Amino acid sequence: QIPVITIDGPSASGKGTLASALATRLGYQFLDSGALYRVTALLALRRGVPADHEPALVGLARQLGEEIPLRFEGHQVWLDGQEVSEDLRQEEVGQNSSKISALPGVRQALVRQQLAFRKLPGLVADGRDMGTVIFPDAGLKVFLTASVAQRAERRYNQLISKGISVTLDEICADLEARDLRDKSRAVAPMVPAADARLLDNSALSIDQSVDTVLGWWTD
Ligand code: CDP
Repeated sequence: QIPVITIDGPSASGKGTLASALATRLGYQFLDSGALYRVTALLALRRGVPADHEPALVGLARQLGEEIPLRFEGHQVWLDGQEVSEDLRQEEVGQNSSKISALPGVRQALVRQQLAFRKLPGLVADGRDMGTVIFPDAGLKVFLTASVAQRAERRYNQLISKGISVTLDEICADLEARDLRDKSRAVAPMVPAADARLLDNSALSIDQSVDTVLGWWTD
């Protein structure tokens, strides 16, 4: 069985940074499952499909990677022949991805694409339901948390460095709204798997978080 490490947790907890650093250190594949929800949201915006039109969104999600080419290359994402990594980070795309990810049909339609990342020599998968729904047999499951204040500060610095003007209050409100939606949705709510290890990285550097998880992996 191909080994899998899952890293789940809320927005801006540093999952992506941790998961991709682990994948690099171990030479494993890396799945950013949030990017699949963002790609679906971006495609819907471009094609004029409303974020609550489940049948049409399911249709789009099913075509991803088949009729509609989709390729992940390091941190670049290619959709339908176009590089869309920057577009995926847009605020509107983030908001809509959060909304459409509450729709059961959309989640189901994206399962196939996520399972396809399980390739030799192994996989590090980043998301909300990696350990609970998509890879329940993973060898190591981590649930990463950090205080809202820490997460807001990280997101704030990211946005400011990109020249986007926001306030800390706006970011806190957005993070709390997303947490609530992720936790309270009926399908695949964001909860730690029963067998997940909890890691609060509020006071840890990236290297310390990576080393902690590597320590668990080789235990
Ligand atoms: O930046 P942020 O961590 O909020 O977003 P992301 O990881 O890129 O994921 C985008 C959205 O997809 C999130 O707001 C989640 O609601 C949703 N998502 C999900 O429901 N399940 C996953 N496995 C990954 C993301």
